[in-house]
Amino acid sequence: MKKLLCTALLATLASAAVSAATAFTDAKDAVDYRQSAFTLIRHNTGDIGEMLQGKVPFDAKRVQQRADALAAVAPLPWPAFSTPGTQAGGGEAKAEIWADFKDFTAKADKFQLDAKALQTAAQSGDQAKIKAAFATFRGNCKACHDKYKAD
Ligand code: HEC
Repeated sequence: MKKLLCTALLATLASAAVSAATAFTDAKDAVDYRQSAFTLIRHNTGDIGEMLQGKVPFDAKRVQQRADALAAVAPLPWPAFSTPGTQAGGGEAKAEIWADFKDFTAKADKFQLDAKALQTAAQSGDQAKIKAAFATFRGNCKACHDKYKAD
């Protein structure tokens, strides 16, 4: 009986792991997910940008919070491009993504590394370092959108 329970538990865990990897009901669900992640990325990026441009007062602690958030959300959109059934669904993703998925993934990986570098720069509190790391981080958006996102 004990063994049976154990087997049942393992089976449940295994299926939970599988559904975590394919947690989208359909393509639209995946598009909603990745667009939500990009919305979070846009807001957090925009706030740091405005502080660095002097549009709002520079606040090292807020930069830190924003950079922490960016490091946390930067990995989120990508699984919603690679799970089966995520390649359509009415979003702005161009077919070129799946024509050259290796390049797209390389761009996504660089974006995540640059988000971590921005987080490290934010921890230093040094505005010049933050500015440089932010410029590099920010460059990823256009580099990817120009090729892979419809306007
Ligand atoms: C490696 C590629 C890549 C990088 C890097 C990237 N994006 Fe995107 N982004 C996309 C794609 C593809 C879409 C379209 C997603 C869809 O509609 O399915 C998108 C969509 C968006 C959207 C629209 C979301 C919506 O609600 O429709 C915003 C806003 C956005 N990105 C902001 C950013 C910002 C800001 C950055 C940089 C800090 C960034 N992205 C970096 C590929 C990228």
